[in-house]
Amino acid sequence: MANNELHETAQALVAEGKGILAADESTGTIKKRFDSIGLESTESTRQAYRDLLFTTPGVEEYISGVILYDETIRQSALDGTPFPQLLESKGVIPGIKVDEGAKPLAHAEGETVTEGLDGLRERLAEYRKLGARFAKWRGVYSISDTHPSEYCIWTNAHALARYAALCQEAGIVPIVEPEVLQDGTHTIERSEFVTSRVLAALFTELFDQKVDMAGTLLKPNMVLSGYEASKRAGVDEVAEQSLHAYYKHVPAAVPGIVFLSGGQTDEDATAHLNAMNARGPHPWQLSFSYGRALQAPALHAWGGKPENVEAGQHAYYHRAKMNSAARSGVYAPQMEREAAAVA
Ligand code: 13P
Repeated sequence: MANNELHETAQALVAEGKGILAADESTGTIKKRFDSIGLESTESTRQAYRDLLFTTPGVEEYISGVILYDETIRQSALDGTPFPQLLESKGVIPGIKVDEGAKPLAHAEGETVTEGLDGLRERLAEYRKLGARFAKWRGVYSISDTHPSEYCIWTNAHALARYAALCQEAGIVPIVEPEVLQDGTHTIERSEFVTSRVLAALFTELFDQKVDMAGTLLKPNMVLSGYEASKRAGVDEVAEQSLHAYYKHVPAAVPGIVFLSGGQTDEDATAHLNAMNARGPHPWQLSFSYGRALQAPALHAWGGKPENVEAGQHAYYHRAKMNSAARSGVYAPQMEREAAAVA
């Protein structure tokens, strides 16, 4: 596998004005999302929902790639086209979540390590045949006065780097996702400190394991004050503290930082991305790889009802368009109202 292909795929995923849809919810997670709209999660309701998202007319103008789950990469659209081929036909790159979830870390009460390395080389080869050209692995860290421990930080960094090296060997661009959860009462300064520690360990391991930065994308949390903090930082402070952490620790050779939304409201996730891009240019593209912040309005507009498919697609298209504007720092909250007035 020529490295050039990895570099080209990574760059295509962060092409101007475009970002990634994370639609890789595991069966357990999608059930929780469907519970919120009172819909039973079955193979066919999951297929109908992913079909709604992936067939949204014109959304490929704003979406470069979609992260799929094991079931979805093997599933077909309602018209019988396998999902990976459907995406490719629209110029959207198929990706795959390959980790097997965060499991309790031995000797570390309340902390986790992400599993899924056993057999990963063989699984990656199969996913490549099914059409995947990039992948995702998520390490998870929580913030308290004592967490995350250095042990948790380094154990997850080591696993993320082993995953990334195996991906590149298979011709698949690894998205490395160290997610520092923003639940709790912590200050934004504490979030910046923890995020910085996590990134420092991650890039140390990536270099040690010979991972090619130009064929890698980083998917981090934004630096926020805790969701339960008494005083929460505003948009400008979030942009500045987040950039502070990435400028210290993310090599310029990484083509893009593609954020997770992590439980922010969809409009906050857009406004924060916009504020960071407005402070550019930066050494890397700053883009999105949102799950909830791209899907929540669509899921609720659809509500599991065939007659609402168009409304769901409209909601998804709108969020993709707003985040595309945030890619170049030209988003304004007023654009939400203008679009609502037109709809
Ligand atoms: P959220 O944007 O909902 O945090 O999901 C992104 C993701 O892929 C988490 O692994």
